[in-house]
Amino acid sequence: MRPKAELHLHIEGTLEPELVVELARRNGVELPTFDTEEIRARYDFADLQSFLDVYYDNMAVLRTEQDFHDLAAAYLRRAEEQGVRHAEIFFDPQAHLTRGVPLEAVFSGLSAALGDSPVSSALILCFLRDRGAEEAEAVLRAALPFREHFIGVGLDSAEVGHPPSLFRRVFDIAAGEGLRRVAHAGEEGGPDYVWEALDVLKVERVDHGIRSMEDPKLVARLREERIPLTVCPLSNVRLRVVPTLRDHILPAMLDEGLMVTVNSDDPAYFGGYVEDNYRALRDELGMTDEQLDRIARNSFEASFVPVDAPA
Ligand code: HPA
Ligand code: ZN
Repeated sequence: MRPKAELHLHIEGTLEPELVVELARRNGVELPTFDTEEIRARYDFADLQSFLDVYYDNMAVLRTEQDFHDLAAAYLRRAEEQGVRHAEIFFDPQAHLTRGVPLEAVFSGLSAALGDSPVSSALILCFLRDRGAEEAEAVLRAALPFREHFIGVGLDSAEVGHPPSLFRRVFDIAAGEGLRRVAHAGEEGGPDYVWEALDVLKVERVDHGIRSMEDPKLVARLREERIPLTVCPLSNVRLRVVPTLRDHILPAMLDEGLMVTVNSDDPAYFGGYVEDNYRALRDELGMTDEQLDRIARNSFEASFVPVDAPA
């Protein structure tokens, strides 16, 4: 299997229904159903927000350091099977703090699992953009005592109506701490959000970014500066950002000379892990091995942590 790095992966989005049920039983959390098929039946999404509603609901089962450990350990086992050599993993501390889970439990559990895996990995702390800039800044300050546990910051959750420019200050603070910077932009939001992420937040990668293709000037900028885009094809189909995989703009992005990578986003919800995304691009979109090899090489080049890219 093709070795690759995964650069757009929300650890909470790897929470499979079987683990939801196991953790609910372990922690005495009431669920609307303990039937994994019934849980999966809710995974029919109309848009980003309808996914986020289920994603945040399911997180209620994550309570202890052990839970976060088990979640990350399960992902890293799957990632290894899928040819992942290196993973830069997002997590959403606000989604746990607001439920009374301390940051210590999140950092300790995730870091222990990362340290035990043969897959190289690092954590990127994401701010929930729909909770505003003030809270983001408070979370960053609360996380700085755990500075050695994460390499960067990101911006996720409901995009439209929450533009990157609102987060200038917190990204400036992060930069001052030597943290790397990424943001979701151009998934449901337009190219203007990608411009803001680059110009105001000084991001070094753009997560999704597919709507950049609507703006030729932006495409030229991304190409000239070799800014990586972490594209998530199965996610885009399941969140109806594109009608079908055959309509995906990814081959055109490659033809434009953009630094495209392929990632799974929230694999427990979107029907596949990262190699499943590569396979679907080959089988359903007819992408060639040469194109997919280029994407895999890009993934190592776009990593913040140097890893020995396979020849
Ligand atoms: N977009 C925005 N926020 C998210 C996503 C996504 O694809 N996945 C998890 N949080
Ligand atoms: Zn994402």
